[in-house]
Amino acid sequence: MNSKLQEAVDDIVEKFKIDKQFLIDATVEFNLSMEAGLSADKPAREYMPMIPTYVTSIPTGKETGLYLAADLGGTNFRVCSVLLNGDHTFGIKQSKYKIPLDLMANSTADALFSYLGKKVDAFLQEHHAEYDGEEHLKLGFTFSFPVNQTALNRGTLLRWTKGFDLPDCVDKDVVELLQRNIDLLGTKVKVVALANDTVGTLLSRAYSNNIAKTKAHTTVGAIFGTGTNGAYFESLDKIPKLKASEIPEGATGMVVNMEWGSFDNTLKILPSTKYDQIIDAETANPGYHLFEKRISGMFLGELLRVMLMDLFERKYLFQDLYASRGGSLPHRLAEPWQLSSEVLSYLEIDDSTDLKMSELVLENHLRLPTNKEERLVIQKLTRTISHRAAYLSAIPLAAVISRVKGQYPEDDDGDFEFGCDGSVVEFYPGFQKKILEAVLLINPLEGSSKKISLRIAKDGSGVGAALCASLA
Ligand code: BGC
Repeated sequence: MNSKLQEAVDDIVEKFKIDKQFLIDATVEFNLSMEAGLSADKPAREYMPMIPTYVTSIPTGKETGLYLAADLGGTNFRVCSVLLNGDHTFGIKQSKYKIPLDLMANSTADALFSYLGKKVDAFLQEHHAEYDGEEHLKLGFTFSFPVNQTALNRGTLLRWTKGFDLPDCVDKDVVELLQRNIDLLGTKVKVVALANDTVGTLLSRAYSNNIAKTKAHTTVGAIFGTGTNGAYFESLDKIPKLKASEIPEGATGMVVNMEWGSFDNTLKILPSTKYDQIIDAETANPGYHLFEKRISGMFLGELLRVMLMDLFERKYLFQDLYASRGGSLPHRLAEPWQLSSEVLSYLEIDDSTDLKMSELVLENHLRLPTNKEERLVIQKLTRTISHRAAYLSAIPLAAVISRVKGQYPEDDDGDFEFGCDGSVVEFYPGFQKKILEAVLLINPLEGSSKKISLRIAKDGSGVGAALCASLA
């Protein structure tokens, strides 16, 4: 490999390294940010929002009933009906609707929510034609953006993330918006609960988890997908910002939606390379969700793309290609957000001779012809990006374990598990293994023989929203 190129690649790899001491220090910092968010009355950029959710218990698996769930959190809107059988199992019917791009930005809250209302109605007609509409069906609404939640069924949008940008929706109550648009159609559905997808994931994994068999407490509900975030159960005495009047009767604790995508927005400790800075500047929420921008699916492909463009601009890569095309590069390489993390997952594991599989993938997905040297560089950078992402992902998980381990009695011998959902943790090769590897390096259970595992919560947010609706 050309020595200048080699040097440039080595430099990137070096800047993306995450060592044990950094993980330990960042976990301490994460805990401090949790504390600050749990105490402060007002959200601020300096610490995580730590949003109380008004969910005051964790399912036991015995919950029963039929509930609807609607889920807005990324490029799809999902509507489902969930039948909780009361024995850790459930039945689910669901439909997925792609959100038209022109409703995600440069549009209005009403246009988006009118579309969502119509899809709830369409779902009922398709899957529950038998429903006579006598009684309102209860719906749990999974809305996976930062919300200032003031009751189980009330919350105003703090800000959009993940590419959504409808300014008139900020500060509006998203339950009201959905309910109004459902009512306009005369559909007999009552939105009774609002939940973040991480809350849904925590609840749904806790419901499915048969502790008698797994011997493990579900400690965190985490999403590593387009975005990233987590929720956990906190004792009320550790949430000083909750006023006595806001605490539901009889409650001893509450699920908190951390919005950990916003961990360290002031970059006290997180690595910040020039590539991270370029990406932040390209987003609709610069300066916010900086942890998410180093970890989640929406950004992994873009990180690779900006690295490759940098190496091109420094004249180390794609020079012949550029010349042969008369001074241009394939648009999927040249333009932001065109390289998906799915492509990285193929490049990551390619072990074919001369990386021939990557050659095909890059041709098919990016229309990018490559030589062997370029593919070697691309694979190295891909692995560098995903390794940093997975290792950083361990920080919040370890921080929560170290925080909640004291919630259990001394003689409790249960292990701990994380309930996870999202395309990256589910499908990105090796991601789960690396997260656990890094959690072990941090070692939040030092001195104990308890184990930590990671479980995928299938249909997490749908089932979780149904469980939230069952609480109403
Ligand atoms: C949102 C969270 C959400 C996470 C995962 C983030 O961008 O702010 O509310 O839980 O994505 O979907």
